[in-house]
Amino acid sequence: LAKNVLVTSRSFGSMSDRPLQLLKENGFSITFKSKKGLYTEADFLNEIGNYDALIIGADPFSEKVMQKADGKLKIICKHGAGLDNFDLETAKKYHIRITNVPGTNSNAVADLALGLMLDVARRITFAAAQVKDGQWKQVTGTDVYKKTLGLIGFGAIGKCVARRALGFGMKVVVYDPYLQKLPEEFQMLTRDNFNSVIGQADFLSLHVPLTEQTKGLINKTVMQRMKKGSFIINTSRGGIVNESDLYDAIVSGQIGGAGLDVVEHEPPTGNPLLTLPQVVVVPHIAMYSSEAINAVSEVCAENIVRMFVGEEPKYIVV
Ligand SMILES: NC(=O)c1ccc[n+]([C@@H]2O[C@H](COP(=O)([O-])OP(=O)(O)OC[C@H]3O[C@@H](n4cnc5c(N)ncnc54)[C@H](O)[C@@H]3O)[C@@H](O)[C@H]2O)c1
Repeated sequence: LAKNVLVTSRSFGSMSDRPLQLLKENGFSITFKSKKGLYTEADFLNEIGNYDALIIGADPFSEKVMQKADGKLKIICKHGAGLDNFDLETAKKYHIRITNVPGTNSNAVADLALGLMLDVARRITFAAAQVKDGQWKQVTGTDVYKKTLGLIGFGAIGKCVARRALGFGMKVVVYDPYLQKLPEEFQMLTRDNFNSVIGQADFLSLHVPLTEQTKGLINKTVMQRMKKGSFIINTSRGGIVNESDLYDAIVSGQIGGAGLDVVEHEPPTGNPLLTLPQVVVVPHIAMYSSEAINAVSEVCAENIVRMFVGEEPKYIVV
């Protein structure tokens, strides 16, 4: 009997036919149910029940949905790295395996983090908007060369960001309490405690998962301890930065600006941060390079095939 795959990720298979082909060649029947915005709990409850596998983006997958899927759904492949849209322990309870794609999109995310850093440093988006508005005024920014980049989280993406920042002549300091020691390649970096890293950083870039510990991690107290005029770059998850504190800190001049790929509520309709010229917000596009999307899609498709031919899928989380 053909196995059914539900795809709610909008980008799965969008860059080449290969991932879809792989599923079809192995006898899977594929249903695309993605929609504008997130697929909701109600959407899932209407749909789930007849699927053996799910390829999911950032859509929330609640316990209620897992309960309804129980018995049939064997594997959820996250079309990305972050695992904050479902509870792993709950998935275990319902015997659903979960995989993600660690490292597969890290270079794309790191490129965007550097892009946002250069943008806020040199005010590229701000200056470009002025030119399109008919003005030709010099806009002065700040160098990244010889500045200190503080990295919160030194996993796959943090490391890719560090490599790039070193190429720009930056000093890189790292905070990651779960890291035993800096890998050989990064011996020239400094590892430090949280307060020291935020206090030294001219640019602070966040590369941690959204968890109970990291929710609201970058708040008013932290921003007050940061250097005056320093910048915050967030390509991890919106909830990690307290946005009203960030707004106040930028208006007061304590924080010089921010480059955000992620915000707490996406899309950020009415978000006051959008009114500030020192803030650049892009629509959660860090992993959206054609190469990264394709690589992520291939891993998801391969993992589903592996699961049902009795091989261990790659990057099993639970
Ligand atoms: N914007 C995007 O499109 C996009 C794409 C991919 C990943 N992400 C986000 O980036 C995050 C990082 O991705 P990754 O691939 O580097 O993950 P990773 O698991 O390789 O690295 C995360 C690192 O954070 C560290 N960490 C965990 N809790 C911490 C804490 N409280 N303080 C400091 N460090 C802590 C871990 O030890 C680990 O080294 C993901 O969890 C995801 O939320 C966003």
